[in-house]
Amino acid sequence: MKDEINKLKKEKNAVILAHYYTRNEVQEVADYIGDSYYLSEKAQELKEDIIIMCGVYFMGESVKLLNPNKKILIPDMNSDCPMAHMVTLKQIDEMRKKYDDLAVVCYVNSTAEIKSKSDICVTSANAVKIVEKLENRNVFFIPDKHLGSYVATKVKDKNIILNDGYCPIHHTLLKEDVELLKERYPQAKVLIHPECRDEVVQLGDFVGSTSGIINYVNKSENSEFIICTELGILYELESGNPDKKFYYPEPKMECLDMKKITLDNIYKTLSEEDNEIIIESNIQVEAIKPLKKMLQLGR
Ligand code: 13P
Ligand code: SF4
Repeated sequence: MKDEINKLKKEKNAVILAHYYTRNEVQEVADYIGDSYYLSEKAQELKEDIIIMCGVYFMGESVKLLNPNKKILIPDMNSDCPMAHMVTLKQIDEMRKKYDDLAVVCYVNSTAEIKSKSDICVTSANAVKIVEKLENRNVFFIPDKHLGSYVATKVKDKNIILNDGYCPIHHTLLKEDVELLKERYPQAKVLIHPECRDEVVQLGDFVGSTSGIINYVNKSENSEFIICTELGILYELESGNPDKKFYYPEPKMECLDMKKITLDNIYKTLSEEDNEIIIESNIQVEAIKPLKKMLQLGR
């Protein structure tokens, strides 16, 4: 199947992007693998006519926003991030009425429609850096309350208003689950994604995006790590660091939406060129602005 996909990719001048949370075999056929920030940056540079985005729907939308004239396909249209739907346009409107100088800061894990009404996007890799640079004092951080509250601990001079959204996968990890591993492996460094609960994030020796965690491990002289993010990251960590040890909390955090992408549906999508991401033109025009702003400010 991998050979067939690679053959088809060449024939059709297509390229495959994949998030670190996708299945191992999907990462193996990808041309570029990364976190949300890397993938949106990379999407701008690609020369191929067709881009297959192996990830959840909002990731395909981001690639389409940045490449409106290309064909963007997603192997499973139902691969969706529940957090992307945890804020509404009405909430944004109401908050704008309350504060004159409001900046609506939108985590990329959101729909294109929500982005179209936001001022700037962020990912977990650049949220602190970007919010620090904003001139506005009042910030409505959507949709993730955990990433928002992590940013609030780092940026003290702003009024950061949180929204009640969260990642149902990272949210399941409890403080006790991490403490148990810390007791068992006291020498291990604890690496945590900021989509986790606040009390979990506080236990981290390092808090960062998927790529941030991978870079930390690659550079670290430590040899043991407790990994607090989605399971898929282990593939890159273990293959790049065969001499290091990784401990993973129970119950395992597995994003079933990311796992909907398989070699079979990549092959089918590539051969039939179906599952194309289409964005309404008025949303396209507005939603690209906060994404571009992020790419400028986040650099
Ligand atoms: P990053 O890719 O920014 O680490 O975010 C994780 C995530 O949940 C993607 O949906
Ligand atoms: Fe969404 Fe969480 Fe899955 Fe990321 S891990 S895509 S935030 S549900």
